[in-house]
Amino acid sequence: MTLYINNDFPMLNRKISGNYLTYLDSAATSFKPSAVLEAEKLYGVYSTSNVHRSHNALSEEISYQYEIARRKVAEFINSDPHNIIMTPSTSYALAIVANGLNLSKEDTVLCSMMNHHSHLLPWLKIAKVAYFQSDPLEPLDLEEVIAAIKLHCPKI
Ligand SMILES: Cc1ncc(COP(=O)(O)O)c(C=O)c1O
Repeated sequence: MTLYINNDFPMLNRKISGNYLTYLDSAATSFKPSAVLEAEKLYGVYSTSNVHRSHNALSEEISYQYEIARRKVAEFINSDPHNIIMTPSTSYALAIVANGLNLSKEDTVLCSMMNHHSHLLPWLKIAKVAYFQSDPLEPLDLEEVIAAIKLHCPKI
C-alpha cells in the first residue's frame, strides 16, 4: 500500500521554473498540511485568544483545544500528556534542556561537527564544547565517537 500524502500539502502544488517543488529543508521550516492551515485560519477568524492566561470563554475554549492537542501528541508517541511540552522552536526546546542540566564551564559537551549551529549555541553558552569528526556522507563512525569520549571525558 502506498501512502500518498503530497496532496495534503498545498505548497507541493507550487512550481518553480516549471518544476514541482522537492523540499528537503523541513528542519528549518516545515510545510503545513491543509488541516493545519485550516485550523490556523479558524483560530485567527473565530478563536483568537491566549492559552492558559484568562478565564473568558474564548481563552477557556482555546486552552481546552490546546490540551486536546497535547493528549493527541502523547497518544501518538505512546507517552503521558504530562511529558509533552510545546515550544516555539527546536532551539528553544534544546535551550530549556541545556539550561536545566546544571552544567558549568568546567563541563564538556561532546557534539558532532555536523551539528547545526542552532544545536551548538545553548551548549557554548554554559559549557565547553568538544567535537568529533564525522563525514556527512557516511554513517556515524562509532570509533571516532569513542575516541572523542576517551579524549574529552564529556559530561554529555
Ligand atoms: C538542520 C536544522 N536544525 C535545527 C534548526 C533550528 O530549528 P528551530 O528554528 O526550530 O529552532 C534549523 C533551522 O534552520 C535547521 O536548519
